[in-house]
Amino acid sequence: MAKASFLLIGPFAQAVTMAGLSLNGPLLDEALPIAEQAGVLVHDGKIVKIEAFAHLLKEAEEQLYSVQWIEEPMVLLPGLIDAHTHLCFAGSRAKDYALRIAGKTYLEIARSGGGILDTVRKTRKASQAELEQSLLQRCQRHLQEGVTTCEVKSGYGLTLEDELKMLRAIQNVSQQQPLELVPTCLAAHMVPPEFEDGATYLKHVVEILLPQVKAEGLANRVDIFIEDTAFDEADALSYLKDAQDLGFDITVHADQFSTGGSEVAARVHAASADHLEASGEEEIDIMKEAGVVATVLPGASVGLGMHYAPARKMLDAGLCVAIATDWNPGSAPMGDLLLQAALLGAAQKLTMAETWAGITFRAAHALRLSDRGTLTTGQLADMIAFNTDDYREILYVQGKLKPSKVWKKGILV
Ligand code: NIG
Ligand code: FE
Repeated sequence: MAKASFLLIGPFAQAVTMAGLSLNGPLLDEALPIAEQAGVLVHDGKIVKIEAFAHLLKEAEEQLYSVQWIEEPMVLLPGLIDAHTHLCFAGSRAKDYALRIAGKTYLEIARSGGGILDTVRKTRKASQAELEQSLLQRCQRHLQEGVTTCEVKSGYGLTLEDELKMLRAIQNVSQQQPLELVPTCLAAHMVPPEFEDGATYLKHVVEILLPQVKAEGLANRVDIFIEDTAFDEADALSYLKDAQDLGFDITVHADQFSTGGSEVAARVHAASADHLEASGEEEIDIMKEAGVVATVLPGASVGLGMHYAPARKMLDAGLCVAIATDWNPGSAPMGDLLLQAALLGAAQKLTMAETWAGITFRAAHALRLSDRGTLTTGQLADMIAFNTDDYREILYVQGKLKPSKVWKKGILV
């Protein structure tokens, strides 16, 4: 009888396993571990081993494992991990985008009551079922483009009920389809119009919302937007300490337009500080010292028509750099992780190894997930395959070559 739960997949022209690479600092392409004519043995959604296909095929025949044949030359990589998104939202901000390219700035639009608060109004009006429906569609697109794990933030509700509605939608959609969603509570995205000041609102979030989020198991992570138009450093610091006391991991929207956020992230030893377009040497050193992952968001730079975060300098300083889309209706409406990582790599002179690391195992580290991001024994069999026999072809065409096969926990989706 076939041991159907053991599955051999292959042969692959190249399997870029990302095994044994450093979490921090520069990476040379020569260091990339590449197995040629490789096969992957999968059991129970996890990788058992990656070895020469011919060798594994013999074992598969002896043990009566199932075999999934790959007919054409393909390059295999770990499934992509998008460590920062706002995928759950209602409505569009095409109007904001038109205003921005005509000359208004993101912060001007925010100060006049548009921007994030516009999406808040629309998201509050939407039902949980409507949010789930649009989130599901975005998940399907992300999965086709090779993303097998995706962080998703709340933050467009800003009331107890609406934040819970968003987080419940994220939890439901994660269970309904293969793309695994990692929820983050971003109730501290903006001060909602119902509150006069940030400190009073944050106190309310700590006392009322966060305990409920914990009790329902809706998120283990808390995020805050530190910026002139959102929350200041002092309020953020005390909020994040309270959230930590309640048992949440921390991530911060930091240094997007002005600095200060990365220092707060360092002081609470956040898992990651994200954005960082305004970070300089001082901020980089502070994050390095505190072991904070630097998550850069090229999609927000493209969406806002502004410079990229200094990823090259961060890597040279020894930081762990993750790359994420920030997919949201305002600053980053495109949401194509591979394309954005390729553009960042070209502009910032990242090696291909550094770019792949940023959207695989370094992104997993930003989310404090140790069970994915490489193709190695015991890791989830989250894998993507491209129709080419040379891994360099993928970033070379800057995101236009999409994966033709995607596996989530060993299942072809
Ligand atoms: O990461 N900067 C703050 N928050 C989001 C944008 C959200 C929005 O504009 O709707 C960001 O860019
Ligand atoms: Fe964001």
